Amino acid sequence: MPSATTVSTPPTTGIFGGHDIARPNLAKKLSDSGSLSQFEQNDLTPVIGREFLNLPIKSLLTADDQLFRDLAYTISSRGVVFLRDQDVTPTELKEFMLRLTSLAGCPSSSGLHVHPLTEEGSELGDQISVISSEKQKKGGGLTHQLSDVSRYASNAWHSDISFEPVPSDYAALKIHTLPPTGGDTLWASGYEVYDRLSEPMREMLSKLTATHDAKFFLDEARNLGNSLRECERGSPLNKGRELAAMHPVIRTNPVTGWNSVYVNKGFTKRINGVTKDESDILLNYLFNMVTQNHDAQVRFRWCKNDVAIWDNRSTWHCATYDYSDPRAGDRVCSLGEAPYLDLAAGKSRKEDLGL
Ligand code: SIN
Repeated sequence: MPSATTVSTPPTTGIFGGHDIARPNLAKKLSDSGSLSQFEQNDLTPVIGREFLNLPIKSLLTADDQLFRDLAYTISSRGVVFLRDQDVTPTELKEFMLRLTSLAGCPSSSGLHVHPLTEEGSELGDQISVISSEKQKKGGGLTHQLSDVSRYASNAWHSDISFEPVPSDYAALKIHTLPPTGGDTLWASGYEVYDRLSEPMREMLSKLTATHDAKFFLDEARNLGNSLRECERGSPLNKGRELAAMHPVIRTNPVTGWNSVYVNKGFTKRINGVTKDESDILLNYLFNMVTQNHDAQVRFRWCKNDVAIWDNRSTWHCATYDYSDPRAGDRVCSLGEAPYLDLAAGKSRKEDLGL
């Protein structure tokens, strides 16, 4: 049984889901003071993605708290930001992510995630996940879904580590090794998918939880010849070999106060409390909303040393495995709160922005 949070009897008002020791540490949602307006930037689509052309992470490490809060608000409201050509080490990236998550109100029990597949004694430290096409060839991972089972590239859409009781708020990925072409990454907006649901559908999904499961990492660890990390993986609630958790299907982002759909093709196996057939229909419908709405997506073409930072609570992403030369980078995932739905105050992004 997934070690989930207290989500089985949904109230009609108040908070649905969450966990007492992993509540967000924010008195109120954030807003934008405008401190980032001095930096050159472009929105890449109307609903998701913003690119900053000259915002060095190294200089942000000594920036004041307000600038960090504005950056957190920008990432959470735009879903993903892209920072071009970054001279930043893995250690600096970790320092940056710790400050970002903490100023964005992560619970005091949440730190940086240790991926269950990270090798003990890894050179870059436990909290860096090495994203490597060469390693993936050996292990399988989400790419296993693209082999003999199915040939849909869209099978790889996911949000990071949703199988943990306390999943990721933010993730940063720096790609330092690139094939000559290919290897783009796509992100999709969970706020936008929520906004496209009818009111009766939103109401029904608001009462439901889903089980997220990453048991396939047990096989992957075996293929790689590694042992699984059963220690605390960045939160006292994330440990052991179960690699499964139950979360609300609709989730409120504490930074923006906006609701998002929170199921993903990579890890969500079952909507709870309905029949298997109903669960399959609902999940397929929601997955299709992500993959078939290209106007809710942004596609990013990497240049060497670009960094993407995204909010895993309200986006999905999908790598593109269309290359054969090596592609590699470093990823850091911070942990936020245990997912919850704020039934009273959670809003639609479009309605809140008056769109
Ligand atoms: C990830 O799924 O976090 C990595 C995405 C990528 O390799 O582009």
